[in-house]
Amino acid sequence: MEIFLDTADAEEIRRCKEIYPLAGITTNPSILAKEKRRFSEQMELVKDAASGLPLHVQVTGETAQALLAEAEAIAEAFGKNTYIKIPVNREGIKAIKELKRKGFVITATAIYTREQAFLAGMAGADYAAVYYNRMQNLSIDSRQVTADIVSLYRMHGMETRVLAASFKNCGQVLEAVLAGAQSVTLPAAVLDSMVDNALIDKAVSDFKEDWTKINGEKRIDEVLTQY
Ligand code: G3P
Repeated sequence: MEIFLDTADAEEIRRCKEIYPLAGITTNPSILAKEKRRFSEQMELVKDAASGLPLHVQVTGETAQALLAEAEAIAEAFGKNTYIKIPVNREGIKAIKELKRKGFVITATAIYTREQAFLAGMAGADYAAVYYNRMQNLSIDSRQVTADIVSLYRMHGMETRVLAASFKNCGQVLEAVLAGAQSVTLPAAVLDSMVDNALIDKAVSDFKEDWTKINGEKRIDEVLTQY
């Protein structure tokens, strides 16, 4: 199981990397546009903040040939272990097939259907980014679709991992994980919301209060000095 951060905000990457067990950073052109800097400048900041975590970077070309050229440039700039995110349409599938032949690592993206995921897997994609919330917006049962994609990969021995994406709340994340998704990519706010809870804060402060009643302000490491 892997958790990715879905952002191009360098500060957010640094903060979340300190706290959470992150496996990498995913971006797309819309996420990058929020940072209002040119692609290469912002990606340098992202790479620096990620300090070694794998990056997933999306291409925008409309033909397989253009997608291949973008992938080559990304690998050259950010390293061959950078996952090239390619939307799953006809040209995208053609590009995925060719890039896998050349040894690239690929995240097939913009997946709304089992059919897209099936073809992405057959083309050799390493990850399939399944758009959880966007499916729900279309009244598609995203939990069922995610579970079906996970089982079809397993059933036919495909190594593609489901990377569930496009989350708006932490309930959706848990649904995707319970549907079998092997990885999820989350905006920082959704990740934070998994542990931001007044009941947790209350429990922590009650324990602290009871500790202090007996031991005062000293911490455990400060009272165990005689051992
Ligand atoms: O990686 C991008 C994917 O998570 C899409 O998210 O919020 O634009 O539906 P969203």
